[in-house]
Amino acid sequence: MLRRSTAPDLNQDGSTALERALAQPMILGLFLPLQSGAWSPSMAPRDTHWGFDYNAECAIRAEELGFDLVFGLAQWLGKGGYGGEMRFREMAMDPLLVTSGLAPITRNILLISTVHILYGWHPVQLAKFAATIDHMSGGRWGLNMVTGYKPSEFHMFGLDDIEHDVRYAMADEFVTLMKRLWSEEENLTYEGPYWSMQDAFVAPKPVRGRPVLVNAGTSPATIDYAARHSDFIFITSPAGADPAAACSALPAHNRKIKLAARALGQEIRTIINPHVICRPTEKEAKQAVRSILDNRDPVAASNFFRSIGGGGGGKLSWSATTEEMWTVGGNVHLVGTPEQIVEWFVRLREAGCDGLQVNFYDFLPDLEYFGKAVLPLMFEAGLRHRPGL
Ligand SMILES: Cc1cc2nc3c(=O)[nH]c(=O)nc-3n(C[C@H](O)[C@H](O)[C@H](O)COP(=O)(O)O)c2cc1C
Repeated sequence: MLRRSTAPDLNQDGSTALERALAQPMILGLFLPLQSGAWSPSMAPRDTHWGFDYNAECAIRAEELGFDLVFGLAQWLGKGGYGGEMRFREMAMDPLLVTSGLAPITRNILLISTVHILYGWHPVQLAKFAATIDHMSGGRWGLNMVTGYKPSEFHMFGLDDIEHDVRYAMADEFVTLMKRLWSEEENLTYEGPYWSMQDAFVAPKPVRGRPVLVNAGTSPATIDYAARHSDFIFITSPAGADPAAACSALPAHNRKIKLAARALGQEIRTIINPHVICRPTEKEAKQAVRSILDNRDPVAASNFFRSIGGGGGGKLSWSATTEEMWTVGGNVHLVGTPEQIVEWFVRLREAGCDGLQVNFYDFLPDLEYFGKAVLPLMFEAGLRHRPGL
C-alpha cells in the first residue's frame, strides 16, 4: 500500500530543495531501481523491484533519512532487455512519469529524471512538461538531459544516430530555448540550426525560475555543456570501479569540470555514484560481493558490459571498467563496514566530488542499513549536517 512521506516539511523556512542540497558538505542521492535488475546482472536473492510502489518506498525512505535527491535513469532496450535468464532490465519504468508520481507523496527531496531529448521531444513540449512537474513538486524537479549514446536507441525511434558533438550542440540549443520559454513573458518565435518555433509560450513558469538542470558524462562536449547549463554533473571514475584508483584519478577530473564552469562564471557540483555494499563486518561485505558474482547471469553480464562498460557505448565514461566490475554494479565499488564506507566517502570528498548518489544491490534493506549504520558516521565525519542543524 502506497504511503506518503512522514518527513518534517523542510520548505517552511522558505528554503528550496536545491539550496538545502548545496548547503550540505556532501550532497547525498539515491539511484532508483526503475529497471529490472537495477545495476547488477545477477540473480543473487533480493527483493528489489522495478515497480512504482517499490520505487516510491525507496524515495520516501530516502527523504525520511534526509537524502537530498533521488534519480532515475532512462534506457530503451528491445525484447529481453540485456538478455540472459533474468532478461536484465527488460522491465523499465519511465523516470519522467515516475518522478511526477513521486511529487505528491514526497515533500523535501529533489526528484531528478532523465530525458532523452533527441528521441522526438521538442523544446516547447519538454519546457511545458517540466514546468508542470515542477509545480506538482513545489519546485523540486530536476532534469538530467541526456543525448543518447546507443545507436540502437536512435534506430528504435526511427532515427539515424547523430555524431557525438552534434548531439551536444543540439542539446545546447534545446536547453537555451527551454530557458527562454521558462523566463520570457512574450511569445517566442525562433529559427535555429536544429529547432524552430513560432509564437511559442509556456505558462505556468517553473516555481523557481527553472528546474534543477543536470547532465552526465565525461567528454569535452559534455563538460562544456555542463559548464554552461548544469547545476550538477553526474560523473564516473576515470579509473574504473576500484576506489583507490578512482580517488587518484578524480581530483584532476573534478578540477577540470569546475574550472570549465568557473571560466564562465558558473558553479557546478560533481556527483559520483558509488555502488555501496556495506555489512557489519568486512567479511560479510565481501561475501555479499561473492554471492552477486557467483549468481551472475553470464549472458546478461556480458551483453551489459559490452554495450556500456569497458569503453562500449559509454566511451570515456566507463572506459576503465571490467566485466566483473560491471556485474557487481558499475561505477566505483565501496565494499566494507560502515566505518570503511565512510572513509571512502571522505576520500571521494577530498578528491573533489561534491556529492554521492548511491546504488545498492538490494535497495530497501540496504538503504535501511545505510540509514542506521552509515549516516550517523557521515554526520560524525562532517560529511552531512545532522537534521535540524
Ligand atoms: C550517473 C550517470 C547516469 C547516466 N544516465 C543516463 C541515462 O539515464 N540514459 C542515458 O542514455 N545515458 C545516461 N548516461 C550516459 C551519459 O549521458 C553519456 O552519454 C555517457 O556518460 C557518455 O558520455 P559522453 O557523452 O561525455 O561521451 C549516464 C551517465 C552517468 C555517468
